[in-house]
Amino acid sequence: MERVLIYYSLDGHTHFLAEQAQKLLGCDVYRLQLAKDYPSKGFAKYYTAGRNTVLRFPHTFKQPLPDLSRYEVVILATPIWAGRVCAPMYSYLKQAEFAHKDLYLIANCSGGDVSKCFSIIKNMKHDGHVRGEISFINPNEATFGSDSARLKAFCDAVLLNESFQ
Ligand SMILES: Cc1cc2nc3c(=O)[nH]c(=O)nc-3n(C[C@H](O)[C@H](O)[C@H](O)COP(=O)(O)O)c2cc1C
Repeated sequence: MERVLIYYSLDGHTHFLAEQAQKLLGCDVYRLQLAKDYPSKGFAKYYTAGRNTVLRFPHTFKQPLPDLSRYEVVILATPIWAGRVCAPMYSYLKQAEFAHKDLYLIANCSGGDVSKCFSIIKNMKHDGHVRGEISFINPNEATFGSDSARLKAFCDAVLLNESFQ
């Protein structure tokens, strides 16, 4: 079974988690990169990124989007912005087609509610079938001691194509 993990990361937490998941899954990984990314700090970062998420601002990407034709399983990893799926991942989801694919969702946050993010993805992607979801709080080297067992359980479910809650 062919799998790909597709993610966006502004501050590096989702990038870190994607690297750890790749080691466990042995899958292809694709990082979504914006043609013009957000500022990395300051008021403008939170204002622009938060506003664009709420307004569902359409983004363009630096490279062509991945060809999903050879994958049966797609793992999506996204930061939470303004309580929902971040604007860059939302833009990707608007363009992607997941017909007949199994989806697994990873959301990273700073401690807020992630349920709205998962509902948005499930409501907009009826073509794919969501088999599992998991969330982490700002995953990084320091937190990985406590996060690793949960990530391993999630990745084991992905490898067995089992559901995961
Ligand atoms: C614009 C913006 C809005 C955010 N909104 C939320 C939020 O509503 N709830 C939350 O728990 N974390 C929020 N965060 C924190 C990120 O979701 C969290 O730090 C995540 O791990 C970042 O992933 P990344 O490092 O891969 O970009 C926000 C971060 C940014 C930049």
